[in-house]
Amino acid sequence: MKLYDKAYVEMTRLFEVLKPGAKEWSLAQAVDPERLPAHIAIIMDGNGRWARGRGLPRVAGHRAGMESVRVAVDTCARLGIRALTLYAFSTENWKRPRAEVHTLWRLLRIYLRRELPEMHRNGVRVTAMGRLDELPAMVRQELDAASELTAGNTGLRLNVALNYSGRAELVDAVNAILDRARSEGTFPDVRVDEDAIASNLYTAGLPDPDLLIRTSGEMRISNFLLWQIAYAELYVTDLLWPDFLRADLLNAILDFQRRERRFGGLGPDRRARTADVEYAGALGNME
Ligand code: FPP
Repeated sequence: MKLYDKAYVEMTRLFEVLKPGAKEWSLAQAVDPERLPAHIAIIMDGNGRWARGRGLPRVAGHRAGMESVRVAVDTCARLGIRALTLYAFSTENWKRPRAEVHTLWRLLRIYLRRELPEMHRNGVRVTAMGRLDELPAMVRQELDAASELTAGNTGLRLNVALNYSGRAELVDAVNAILDRARSEGTFPDVRVDEDAIASNLYTAGLPDPDLLIRTSGEMRISNFLLWQIAYAELYVTDLLWPDFLRADLLNAILDFQRRERRFGGLGPDRRARTADVEYAGALGNME
């Protein structure tokens, strides 16, 4: 092992909390610290089903899901992952019963209060994204306090999507571009390109997610990070979110490391084989 490589040194923080011989230990040993996803995004799904399966109210599933959030944040921070975006509340989630929505906000506040000191110690920087001005004032205050406290941290960026919708994010980005053009007097001539959109998204400055995880087996994107996941590797597991723990996240990362990412090009073993070149040449002669 190259002991002095930053990536390896960073990962030793994960081994500090693992037991030698445990399943998580051998999974962590298999992870290549130099090929980690820079940004992991997670659609945390299945809390309700987890609770129903145990004869409990849905909110008990959300409560249990908080532990999976804690574990995911801790694991990513200790691995040296740059960013973790969690889909905690979509703009469509307001359609749920008032009591459930209220409990979700309470749980978020409890989580922040309980976990902030440890996250801060671990160098985690907390941010939130979405139409945050529509959140209850108490939640906004708590989020603002967490992001202010951790603003100078350079470790994992924990980005919580709240009142979030991928389409709304794109609309907000385009409107921000138009507003700026109006205020700068360039409106009639404004042109929109990919860089302009990307730099006006809520995720501006973050790398696009390399790995998008969804729990509970649903094969859907559910309006999450529509722009940013253009080349993300998808990982869907049947596990329900409260059952998705450290070993499962390590398994997802290992699966990611086995993928061949081509970004629309060709993989290393398929580049310009002689037969392909000759065939293309022959097609040229037919014209
Ligand atoms: C989806 O499960 C989950 C949510 C809408 C909320 C996720 C919230 C938490 C994990 C709690 C705390 C969050 C943070 C960031 C501390 P679902 O209710 O749609 O499950 P179902 O599909 O089985 O009904």
